[in-house]
Amino acid sequence: MTNLDAFRQAGNPMFNDNKFKLGIFGSNCSNACAMTLAETSFEPTFEQNREIAGLLESAGWECMVPIARWRGFGGPSNFNGNCMETYTWAASLAAVTKKIFLFATSHVPTIHPIVAAKMGTTIDRISKGRFGINMVCGWFTPEMEMFGRKMMEHDTRYEYATEWVEIVEKLWTEQWFDYEGQFLSVKQGFADPKPWQSPRPVLISAGSSGKGRDFAAKYCDINFSVIEEQGLDKAAAWVKEMKKTAWERHQREIGTFTYSYAVVRDTEREAKEYWDYYVNQKGDWEAADNICEVFGVESGSYSPDYMDKFRRNFIAGWGGYPLVGTPEQVADRILELSKTGVDGSLITMVDYKQELPYFNAKVLPLLEQAGLRKPLVGARQRELAAA
Ligand SMILES: Cc1cc2nc3c(=O)[nH]c(=O)nc-3n(C[C@H](O)[C@H](O)[C@H](O)COP(=O)(O)O)c2cc1C
Repeated sequence: MTNLDAFRQAGNPMFNDNKFKLGIFGSNCSNACAMTLAETSFEPTFEQNREIAGLLESAGWECMVPIARWRGFGGPSNFNGNCMETYTWAASLAAVTKKIFLFATSHVPTIHPIVAAKMGTTIDRISKGRFGINMVCGWFTPEMEMFGRKMMEHDTRYEYATEWVEIVEKLWTEQWFDYEGQFLSVKQGFADPKPWQSPRPVLISAGSSGKGRDFAAKYCDINFSVIEEQGLDKAAAWVKEMKKTAWERHQREIGTFTYSYAVVRDTEREAKEYWDYYVNQKGDWEAADNICEVFGVESGSYSPDYMDKFRRNFIAGWGGYPLVGTPEQVADRILELSKTGVDGSLITMVDYKQELPYFNAKVLPLLEQAGLRKPLVGARQRELAAA
């Protein structure tokens, strides 16, 4: 039985029968993924996250992934500066939801693996098996150096993450072990209870450099990557390569996910006008410049030219795949994404609470008709009919 078979057998939503799975990204952070000063009712509060989770659950969405952030990116919006810590965010939502899968996004150098494993187990048990960790190494130097240590060199970060995840996995599955690494050591490791999920909670990573993808192939169940608008062929190659590497080198299965941003309106003109408004007229260009500069320099995956070219897309939704248009156009774009073989997408919106009901009512039925998602019976139908 492979790592993913165990999750499938347990009915884990991240590995269910829907051909294209859906989640949202960043609802724990101010402005989520849109660097804009456009008016919005969105606030990264527990109350709003609870409401958003309700909208997602009633329509059968699979997951919510938060952003790990410790300080904002400056600019007039101080983009992402006001945010909720992600383990406590996941724990609070675990207690008030029933179906949605919740992740904590964890900067591995900022938290000891014994603490992370214990918190992960606690949330996994509160949620009855709906918890996973998105492991990130950190790339925003001022944020990581706030913790009083020098930022590690790019590939070293993944060597540290390797020791971190090996310890977390051992704590989730073993007892009384010793671990001696280059960075971390554990004497007589012990953790009780064990997680609800067997053998352990889902692990994901968005490493996109060679080192980052090797790490994902060896330790993670899902690898996340950006898909560029003109890059569907490249995306199909990434999906194939990830699966091949995981299987041939590690006898493991791996899923793949991407992220996109949605502006869905009755007409294409309305959708494009709103995009123009929140990106070109109200975009926080200063915050975007700050991010592009750090990302270009600090990430092993992107050149400064690439970052500059995609600045507008960054403002619109962290450089995600654009889903801008009518419900039919957006469903077609999702179908294009699905043809790459990718298993699903996190979707970001300027104002989740305002925009999700329309997406649920208009786009989801088209995805069902296209065979990308199983029709939901019962609760959602009743809700939509009542709307
Ligand atoms: C969907 C997605 C979510 C991510 N979430 C975070 C995050 O919350 N915090 C963070 O510091 N980095 C985050 N990253 C950055 C990645 O962890 C990674 O550093 C980046 O994709 C570059 O890959 P590399 O580290 O292999 O160079 C995210 C990336 C993607 C694509």
